[in-house]
Amino acid sequence: MKITKNLLIALAAFALVPAIAKADAIEDVMKGAFKGETSLFKKVTTNKGSKDEAAKLAEWCAKLKGTTPPKGDAASWTKKVDALIDASKAAARGGAAGVAALRNAGNCKSCHQAHRED
Ligand code: HEC
Repeated sequence: MKITKNLLIALAAFALVPAIAKADAIEDVMKGAFKGETSLFKKVTTNKGSKDEAAKLAEWCAKLKGTTPPKGDAASWTKKVDALIDASKAAARGGAAGVAALRNAGNCKSCHQAHRED
């Protein structure tokens, strides 16, 4: 009986790991690709990034897929994240239109107001 109970606790703990990893994913992406004047996002949207950096940024953005923000409507989040992922891919393919779309979809303030805890 005791063994079964411990086993169940262990299984429950394992089930929680992906949920925690997902919750941290947004912060990881923000710190890894968005934050600061020298971030990948900043470089790519000011046309100072290399093709490689644009591709890396697209990889970072893709990590937001399936995450849950601390605040706000799930449908709104999915829409913003999908737009951001599409725009980052377009920017990675090259061209001014992709970069312009990325600048729009990556609007820090509008996304934070809707989905970041104050
Ligand atoms: C698609 C929506 C979205 C966009 C666009 C976005 N953010 Fe965020 N950002 C978030 C969310 C949601 C959080 C809160 C994450 C949490 O607390 O789990 C966050 C948190 C952060 C954090 C705090 C990370 C930490 O250490 O906890 C920083 C810094 C940040 N964003 C910078 C930026 C900057 C700079 C931009 C624009 C260039 C930007 N973000 C654009 C959604 C977005």
